Amino acid sequence: QGVTIVDHPLVQHKLTLMRAKERSTKGFRQLLNEIGMLLCYEVTRDLPMEHITIETPLAEMRAPQIAGKKLVFAPILRAGVGFLDGMLDLVPSARVAHIGLYRDPETLQAVEYYFKAPSDLADRLVMVLDPMLATANSAIAAIDRLKQRGAKDLRFVCLLAAPEGVAKMQEAHPDVRIWTAAIDERLNDHGYIVPGLGDAGDRMFG
Ligand code: PRP
Repeated sequence: QGVTIVDHPLVQHKLTLMRAKERSTKGFRQLLNEIGMLLCYEVTRDLPMEHITIETPLAEMRAPQIAGKKLVFAPILRAGVGFLDGMLDLVPSARVAHIGLYRDPETLQAVEYYFKAPSDLADRLVMVLDPMLATANSAIAAIDRLKQRGAKDLRFVCLLAAPEGVAKMQEAHPDVRIWTAAIDERLNDHGYIVPGLGDAGDRMFG
């Protein structure tokens, strides 16, 4: 409940390619971008619609268009940036909020080093992007900050999640629905998702 696993064959196939340790930086980045597009398709599936009157070259008709709030994509740096281009290809007019967080390797707490968001967050639907939901410290901190700045309607999109992270997110932000391609087995002692795919930021950027 509150979690959607995107089990589309293209997503699952591409995720398997990304998990393989021999995948190159170039391949990894490209796949993350492609999956970003596919996840964006799913996370926007239930956006409210309205009908407007248009004229085709042959006749007037009533036709559907997306209604309601405009979108903001909020990638958590660095790895969340990997989703961004694919999503912006599908929703070119979306705004972008950048959230710089790194995980302290000892405490696993999220430390903020950058935050820049559009001023009208309160009126928008905010899609928070991060390929990995491990302890969920980063996602929770990012959503705390976005809410502090007025965001009310948020969704979280990741590629891989740990069961511990999903539970913690749902406790901290029960109003934020989660989309993920898979929920893996567990977290290891260093807070990495196992079997996972390693460190997404490092695999994408070095
Ligand atoms: C990794 C990953 C997520 C976060 C997930 O980022 O990209 O942002 O950890 O872990 P959590 O759910 O336990 O918070 P990292 O701090 O390695 O930064 P990077 O993306 O810049 O490599």
